Amino acid sequence: MMKTVIRPLFKSFILNHPTNEDKILAFSAIFWFTIAFIGHLIFVLYIISLYGISLFEGDFDRWNAMMPKGYIEGDIAGNISIGVHLLLAAIISIGGPLQIIPKLRDYVPRFHRWNGRLYVSTAVIITLTGFYLTWVRGSVGGLVGAVAITINGILILLFSLIVIRYAMAGNFKSHRKWALRLFMVVSGVWFFRVGFMLWMLIHQKPVGFDPATFQGPFLTFLNFAQYLLPLLVLEIYFWANERARKTGKITTAAIITILTIAMGVGIFGATVGMWFPNIN
Ligand code: HEM
Repeated sequence: MMKTVIRPLFKSFILNHPTNEDKILAFSAIFWFTIAFIGHLIFVLYIISLYGISLFEGDFDRWNAMMPKGYIEGDIAGNISIGVHLLLAAIISIGGPLQIIPKLRDYVPRFHRWNGRLYVSTAVIITLTGFYLTWVRGSVGGLVGAVAITINGILILLFSLIVIRYAMAGNFKSHRKWALRLFMVVSGVWFFRVGFMLWMLIHQKPVGFDPATFQGPFLTFLNFAQYLLPLLVLEIYFWANERARKTGKITTAAIITILTIAMGVGIFGATVGMWFPNIN
């Protein structure tokens, strides 16, 4: 296990001649990735269990358990859009984390290429169905929420294009960096749920937003932070990895570790409060 999985995984996160601070930074990145991967797996389990199983049982009312406009009788285009959106949500949430494991790419490059094509196509289609659901069908969160998720969607489309262009040009250093940026914006909706449940766990009641309209200052912040904060931390990680001195690397590792612990608590909150109650 140590020789075949952990050591290669660890090595792939660090530079060729690692110093101790490079190793500390690499450990913080692996810690973050491991917790994020587990959180994505639970999210996939929830999507399959709530939406997938009810689809096969023909129990479409369950689609409205977490959304006000999940299944609407007679709205064929809307129901197909949300159905496709949910199917792709499960695919992308499992394919994304697998795609960014560096050693998997080296051991099974064919898998990386096919999963990459699937991931980018899924990202594009899920975003287009998301635009339809947001602007045509209407979603919770009001205008600010709609604008924020639309910017998130535009970033997904833009980063997908850049990732493909760098892969086709054979510029794998830039391809990898943009793939990680793409992963962060694609995971925006997942970060939203984790951040929201962390907030609820801390306060034990709705604070900073109105639960009836699902709007308020905290949700305005979270609607944008769901993708801007992960992107910011990723840029700091790139800087620390490539250019920072000892103190910069160690400080970045500490920030990533603290944020990962907060993310872990949010995942726990989302799991017990939102996802597990809908898994059967
Ligand atoms: C890219 C990854 C995405 C994933 C994994 C994802 C996942 C999901 C899931 C699981 C739901 C069902 C609600 C729940 O059970 O929690 C949902 C609903 C929804 N999604 Fe997405 N989604 C993604 C991207 C987007 C984007 C980019 C947009 C908008 C541009 C969007 C707009 C919506 C809307 C409007 C709903 C209906 C719920 C509501 O009324 O707010 N999604 N999504």
